[in-house]
Amino acid sequence: MPSVESTSAAEHRPSGRSRRVWSLAIRLFHWGLVACVVLSFLTMKVETDLFDFPQNVHARAGLIALGLLLFRWGWALVGDHHARIGSWLRSPSVTLSYARDLMKRRADIFAGHNPLGGWAVLAMLTSLTIQALTGLFVTDDIFFEAPLHTLVPAAVSDTALWIHHLNANVLLALIVLHLGALLAHRCLGERLVGAMFSGRKTLPRGAHWAETDTETHQQPEQQSDQELDRTSDQQQGQRGSSGKGVEPGRSALMVRAALLALFSTGCVMWLWGRL
Ligand code: HEM
Ligand code: HEM
Repeated sequence: MPSVESTSAAEHRPSGRSRRVWSLAIRLFHWGLVACVVLSFLTMKVETDLFDFPQNVHARAGLIALGLLLFRWGWALVGDHHARIGSWLRSPSVTLSYARDLMKRRADIFAGHNPLGGWAVLAMLTSLTIQALTGLFVTDDIFFEAPLHTLVPAAVSDTALWIHHLNANVLLALIVLHLGALLAHRCLGERLVGAMFSGRKTLPRGAHWAETDTETHQQPEQQSDQELDRTSDQQQGQRGSSGKGVEPGRSALMVRAALLALFSTGCVMWLWGRL
């Protein structure tokens, strides 16, 4: 697990007060996931006449969520710099020191997820994956059987259902925490939500990017968005042969994204066909 000091060279790329952090893949993943999860809770936890057969809608939303999660886990290994788990999962000591700085309102701004956020993201992705996977084996004992229900003994299906119910509450708590953290950062002047739409994060007045390199602060602050994008794309493509700083170019990333998307869609379609 890299510490803040040892984050890859890609994070040290020069840029001004605005940085491109969330790729289109991450943004599509995030908002698609939000839609599926909201629909999953709506169909199971809210009495509504909107759906004739809520379990069916629920299962389909859950399967799409599973596909998105499969993509995200793959992207956490082979995706762009800010998407990769190695860039946002920091050691407990770095996380603790960040939490202390945050309490004193003097924490630096991280281009990707901050150290506390990184652990929260890991918890959310894990809980969501458990939820989607256990859903595959359950039945409501009335109308609905999940795609893999008949492949496992009743004891396994019962355990999956028990976990599905229990983890639903854990997930809800994590989502509330997630939204609370976003609000807290907004109160501290950090606009994270806008970045999840536009892909770009902007440094609040008087704050610093949490990197060790001084180049960051020497860049002209008025550099245009296009120039910044060009710089980081060129650097992504150029970096390649030197160990820590290995960063795939744009076309390599597109091929990886396409392969992952193909794999995830294939899995979802197979499960969908068994509903
Ligand atoms: C069902 C509810 C939600 C779930 C399950 C959820 C889940 C997630 C996950 C898994 C990530 C990590 C993204 C990644 O690296 O792949 C994330 C990040 C993020 N989410 Fe959500 N999210 C939810 C609702 C929202 C809402 C309603 C907003 C906006 C109001 C939001 C704004 C953000 C932002 C800004 C980040 C990036 C945080 C950062 O800069 O570190 N999320 N969310
Ligand atoms: C991330 C995806 C998912 C989320 C967030 C989710 C969430 C939930 C929630 C909140 C409940 C109600 C639990 C309770 O009342 O305590 C539930 C129940 C249920 N879920 Fe999911 N679920 C997901 C995926 C799936 C999948 C993929 C399937 C099947 C293909 C599925 C099938 C079911 C069924 C059948 C129930 C009703 C169980 C019963 O009658 O007790 N879920 N789910």
